[in-house]
Amino acid sequence: MCGIFGIVTKNQEISVGKVVFEGIKRLEYRGYDSCGIVSLYNSKLFIKKEAGKIDEIHKKIKLDEFPSGSRLALAHTRWATHGAPTKQNSHPHLDCFDKIAVVHNGIIENFLELRNELTSLGHTFKSETDSEVIPHLIEDFMKKGNSFKDAIINALKKCKGAYAIAVCQIDNPDLIIVARKESPLIIGIEEGKTTYCSSDIPAFLPYTRKCYIMEDDELAVLKAGEVQFFDLKSDNKLIRKEMQTIEWNIDAAEKGGYDHFMLKEIYEEPDALRFTMKISDQLLTKFANALISADSIYITAAGTSYHSALAGKFIISKFLGKHIQDMECSEFETQLKCSLQDNSVIIAISQSGETIDTIEAIRWAKKTKSVKILTITNVVGSSITRYSDHVIVTNAGPEIGVAATKTYSTQVLALALIAVSIAKTRKIISNEEIVKYQDALAGIPNIIEQFLEKNVDLIKYIVNNLEKNMNYFFLARGISIATAKEGGLKLKEVACRFIEGYSAASAKHGPISLVREGFPIIFIAPPDETYNRLVGNVMEFKARGGRIISVVVESDVKITKLSDITIRIPQPADKFHNLFSPITFMPALQLLAYYAALAHDLDPDKPLNLSKTVTVH
Ligand code: G6P
Repeated sequence: MCGIFGIVTKNQEISVGKVVFEGIKRLEYRGYDSCGIVSLYNSKLFIKKEAGKIDEIHKKIKLDEFPSGSRLALAHTRWATHGAPTKQNSHPHLDCFDKIAVVHNGIIENFLELRNELTSLGHTFKSETDSEVIPHLIEDFMKKGNSFKDAIINALKKCKGAYAIAVCQIDNPDLIIVARKESPLIIGIEEGKTTYCSSDIPAFLPYTRKCYIMEDDELAVLKAGEVQFFDLKSDNKLIRKEMQTIEWNIDAAEKGGYDHFMLKEIYEEPDALRFTMKISDQLLTKFANALISADSIYITAAGTSYHSALAGKFIISKFLGKHIQDMECSEFETQLKCSLQDNSVIIAISQSGETIDTIEAIRWAKKTKSVKILTITNVVGSSITRYSDHVIVTNAGPEIGVAATKTYSTQVLALALIAVSIAKTRKIISNEEIVKYQDALAGIPNIIEQFLEKNVDLIKYIVNNLEKNMNYFFLARGISIATAKEGGLKLKEVACRFIEGYSAASAKHGPISLVREGFPIIFIAPPDETYNRLVGNVMEFKARGGRIISVVVESDVKITKLSDITIRIPQPADKFHNLFSPITFMPALQLLAYYAALAHDLDPDKPLNLSKTVTVH
């Protein structure tokens, strides 16, 4: 959680305050409880920090105004873990003499011991955060005669936990020192002119596409337009890293004319899916072979990624002919402690690649047994990739809206592509059928495009129709239970409604008792093998006064007749398309959540209490 951003430059034209202010706005999806900026000028630190959202704070204290001669600044946007979101707890944090400023993303697990130790040495703490121990530790080592860099190295040796930090110090006015362990950190560079450090690429993308992705236990010394990397694991020796060039541009990271990132990202789904389709056959075959030869298979993730796991396991097991056990990543170790066996394969899914529970699940599994980790993520070089045997990058482009949309559909597509690759390798269906599944997959972006073109007014009408209802259900059977659960999660996240995604069959064992005249139930109803039974479920709820809204294919008749309103997905009614309906039906539910958020005056890009990247347990 949290976003950090920094700049050190020779360019006299630049206002460093403005650059870091714009930078943390692009990182605000990582946390938006409070923020702060420090700039260094004339041997003095200038600090502005406050609790609240960045734009609100900016209105009060002009976050972009700092001494014009300053050539160095650091910024932080916070998602609180240790200590409430207050001004005191917001970053940057300083040492006792206001000489050292630190911004930190991560958690220092042993901060209480360190804080006690430092307090007994006479240090005074101003916040309740874990992060504040870092500047005090650095101060302590500098007092003992360490250089700025050595003091940081020694301070980090004492810290247990996760961090991406950026540090500046008044006697070293030309440098920022950064280090990383388990929290992302990327260095952007305009050679000879300006260097940036950031938790994510979009923050520096308006200025440069050249960057270095830092690995765990690396430290970097940033000067204007130059950077040196050191390996903290091997005697802090100087290392060479390969510069990378980012292919996508800043337009992809900004709203591009849409009111919100969430809406933009829903509309980007067709193109994002087209990119995901480009996953090489070679890589898909590696995934397929690993799954075919495994004795046991698990699929694990959190949040939306877990719902894509539920859809994906259904699609894959159809062609694999083996059971795949789904498991929430937070439960993985607890539940499998006594039963995980060698030669298991674990599919781990994480759009950010930074979710600590997912990373810990696979790390534990690797440590415990001889297992293979197959990962699906949207972020190249993210932490999860380090613990993985094979990695598929979904290539959905940056997703800024906190609620996952295009990363969900591309994850399910990646899993579907693996499934078809398994079908090919195992030769369990005819070539003709394989081609039909492949055609169905290739047609998905067009189906979504057509749907988005024609259905916005209908979705807005449904939102109006549902507006007064705080609670309702999404019900489904079979593969669509994943769709119902994900639809329910989207509405909870962005529209603050308690909407439950549930099995239509199980709903009559309890939840049906909530139904009164006019209670809305949204049925997800592709014409698959569960359809006729679902018709029965629709009738049960209708008979009790339920208001039926259904999501069906264009040619649907039976459920349409029973429904008050239908949302029609423009796709053929055959088994090839039905299997991929978790992808084609989802944009309808994402749009519903988006417009429901607007109807309730909520910002869909910044749901209450949520963060896009959850790096705490
Ligand atoms: C957070 C986000 C969710 C996301 C989940 C898992 O809770 O708000 O949108 O689904 O983390 O994230 P991951 O990056 O592992 O997919």
